[in-house]
Amino acid sequence: MTAKTNLTINPQRLWDTLMETAKFGGTPKGGIKRLTVSDEDKRVRDWFKAECEKLGMTVEVDEIGNMFATRPGKRKDVAPIAMGSHLDTQPTGGKFDGVLGVLGALEAMRTLVDMGYESNAPLMIVNWTNEEGSRFAPAMLCSGVYAGVFTTDYAYSREDRQGIKLGDELERIGYKGKHKAGAIKFSSMFELHIEQGPILEAEEKMIGVVTGVQGMRWYEVTVKGQESHTGATPMGLRKNALLAAARMIDAIHQVGMAHLPGVASVGLIENRPNSRNVVPGEVFFTVDLRHPDESVLDKMEAAYRAALPRIADDLRVEFEEKCIWKSPAVKFAPELIECVRSGAKQAGYASREMASGAGHDAAYIARVAPTTMVFVPCLGGISHNEAESTTLEECGAGAQVLLNAVLAHDRSFA
Ligand code: GLV
Ligand code: MN
Ligand code: MN
Repeated sequence: MTAKTNLTINPQRLWDTLMETAKFGGTPKGGIKRLTVSDEDKRVRDWFKAECEKLGMTVEVDEIGNMFATRPGKRKDVAPIAMGSHLDTQPTGGKFDGVLGVLGALEAMRTLVDMGYESNAPLMIVNWTNEEGSRFAPAMLCSGVYAGVFTTDYAYSREDRQGIKLGDELERIGYKGKHKAGAIKFSSMFELHIEQGPILEAEEKMIGVVTGVQGMRWYEVTVKGQESHTGATPMGLRKNALLAAARMIDAIHQVGMAHLPGVASVGLIENRPNSRNVVPGEVFFTVDLRHPDESVLDKMEAAYRAALPRIADDLRVEFEEKCIWKSPAVKFAPELIECVRSGAKQAGYASREMASGAGHDAAYIARVAPTTMVFVPCLGGISHNEAESTTLEECGAGAQVLLNAVLAHDRSFA
């Protein structure tokens, strides 16, 4: 049937849906604050479930809140082809990071339902819990549980900075489902996402054909000095934890600069007691190192670890440091990458291959099923920012390529 190569998504409907869900946690600056398993997250989950059910899909939830919406195919003997991403956001998140992947999949599904198109394999949309890792570290936590990287109990025990546990919050919002993590199966996964970097825009390419994700490591550092009076403690006698942290942060920045295209960042810092006339006694901060090559990441880790004691000794402070997360570099499945490449070509979009700088659920899912991603540009490459911006045309292009790629893969089940 000709519709097979000719199914056209509705970009305006996708855009309206993106704007509709942006109200769940919408911020005055036009972004979204929808931290994972918060009340706002519950509202968007309820909405998502209802919309999938309107399409005749069955929605199931696993014990760590991952949501799976399935539409049957002609064949009952094969597992679904999944399209998935996340609906949680950063505290000052934009409207597209993660959300486009779930709602782009919903638009693809709405298109198929409107056209009465029956796929060979069942098709599935997945909303992964806690991709961001902002409220509960680490990132990609519940796709990680699904893939067997973490246990369910580990995920439940993760605490936010207020000491609230993820497991308790899941229970509270009613999304601790009955299915064991990993029990709801699919045969492959495609994830649509904004690039979150500047390359596609700079090269005027509409589609990124994503070949993998760089390696990532997260650490936590606590610097311990001594609280004392700012007026009465001579400069030479201070044990200033914040000054030591400042020098460490600069040293971490230099680690990134010395290992390009590697990146090294400190994004969260807590200064205690944070009073203007107390020399800071304790500082907590987080470290994020990334590189596409694990052996270079090892070197970055060594350089970062070598810098801390030197600084601590100079300033007579103590510190504790630990690695809390390692996500190795990932290569996506060639047969699925080919579906994205052909899907972009079929829709007439210029594309280029690229690795992802950001972490994605696809990185963990790649351990248990063939997986790949589709990127679209975002304005100025800006993401994790309320000003994150992507056009209606770009969102539509991404959803179209996602649908084309899924249908190309589905043909192998004919
Ligand atoms: C997830 O958004 C990450 O790349 O940190
Ligand atoms: Mn994301
Ligand atoms: Mn993100």
